[in-house]
Amino acid sequence: MNTCVVGLQWGDEGKGKIVDMLSEKADIVIRYSGGANAGHTVQRSENEESFALHLLPSGILRDGVDSIITNGVVLDADIVLSELQGLKDRGIDAYSRLKISGRAHLVMPYHKKQDILSEAALGKEKIGTTARGIGPCYGDKVARSTAVRVADLEDLDGLAVKLKRIVEYKNKFFTGVYGETELLNYEEIFADCCRWAKAFEPMIIDTTAYLHKAWKAGKTMLFEGAQGSMLDLDHGTFPFVTSSNSSAVGLSAATGMPAKAVDCFLGIVKAYSTRVGAGPFPTEQDNEVGDTIRVKGHEFGTTTGRPRRCGWFDAVCTSFAIQIGGIDAIALQHLDTLSGMKELKICTGYMYNGELLDFYPSEASVLEKVQCVYETIEGFDADLRNVTSWDNLPEAAKAYIDRVEQVLQCPITLVGVGPQRSQTLQRRSKL
Ligand code: GDP
Ligand code: IMO
Ligand code: MG
Repeated sequence: MNTCVVGLQWGDEGKGKIVDMLSEKADIVIRYSGGANAGHTVQRSENEESFALHLLPSGILRDGVDSIITNGVVLDADIVLSELQGLKDRGIDAYSRLKISGRAHLVMPYHKKQDILSEAALGKEKIGTTARGIGPCYGDKVARSTAVRVADLEDLDGLAVKLKRIVEYKNKFFTGVYGETELLNYEEIFADCCRWAKAFEPMIIDTTAYLHKAWKAGKTMLFEGAQGSMLDLDHGTFPFVTSSNSSAVGLSAATGMPAKAVDCFLGIVKAYSTRVGAGPFPTEQDNEVGDTIRVKGHEFGTTTGRPRRCGWFDAVCTSFAIQIGGIDAIALQHLDTLSGMKELKICTGYMYNGELLDFYPSEASVLEKVQCVYETIEGFDADLRNVTSWDNLPEAAKAYIDRVEQVLQCPITLVGVGPQRSQTLQRRSKL
């Protein structure tokens, strides 16, 4: 069975944990979108320090599982190399198990610079990006003439000519638009490319061909989404989104695999909501409730360390993510984080100009103004981290999940009660 794991909120839902768990039964794990803006945490056991993966698929920790980075990813080569080295230092040799698409685009040093300059120039209107060069790299992909793909590393003579032109253009752009005085150095950037060419030479393949052959051969494939559906370039809270299709709609373009290759689109949500960076967040609790969730759930960004904004579970945006993504089942994480709260709230509708909206609004300006309709549910007190089966959860915790499921009209099959691999309860039929 092939599964695609997708975040249904604003990222950081616990995708890394679930991919790591499901990879036990996978032959291949495929990271297919975004870049080093992602931070996927995997904690194998209580006594082991967790792994924070930005570009390597979260299945890479398992021996015998092949790891693929497809065309949809924007690749920061040095981050991939440092993650591989970091794993090696911890006894995991993953070099021979990693394959990278020649069609993936390279995040160049000037993309990161452009990200920082652009955000600084926007001032109060900034997006609050991760400064990983994601938007500028995808921008160059769309522009085409200023793009550099991984496959370009296989033709360094051709790349030298192209890169010289691009660096000249970027220097003119940065000085002209942003008044930047420090010029990019072509030689230094090309030297980086030569180093990457050597390091990645054995890993570059046509991942589309690889995946189709694997599908035909009946291999079990696990696709790992990055970010969350509400950060989707087309369907998220534009312009406060990332620059790729991070909802389930992005899978096909980012892999070359049809959606019908996937048997289960598994949506990941937290039992509440979080968001990093700017943009509308209707259920945000900029108060004691939000602070309690942040502290208890360790809600600080895996990539940037920024405190995450926290709020109640938003069934309106999650239902929208389920609809556009054709989500089959849900893994709900962080139930343990809610214990100790007297009452819990679920947002079941948005009011706008005195009327209940019947569909998720497309405009951030509307979302900024909606009033949430909440249902209040009794809280629970017990520490859930040692609970090992659904039946042993407190009744109030079960009632909360039951109600969330009812509102979402999508089966919640897995429930997280802690960050470790083992702290996931099976609620309904196995995936
Ligand atoms: P991702 O980007 O979706 O992979 O999520 P992140 O790794 O950025 O953030 C999720 C955080 O929650 C990580 O620190 C995980 O270790 C942690 N986590 C995941 N599931 C649970 C859970 O059920 N309970 C608790 N307490 N922590 C969890
Ligand atoms: P994972 O995969 C949470 C957010 C940034 C910012 C917006 C645009 O760990 O869930 P970008 O750098 O992509 O141009 O930033 O998107 N963002 C994330 N938020 N989790 C992520 O990834 C994110 N990746 C990007 O905070 O608001
Ligand atoms: Mg994350």
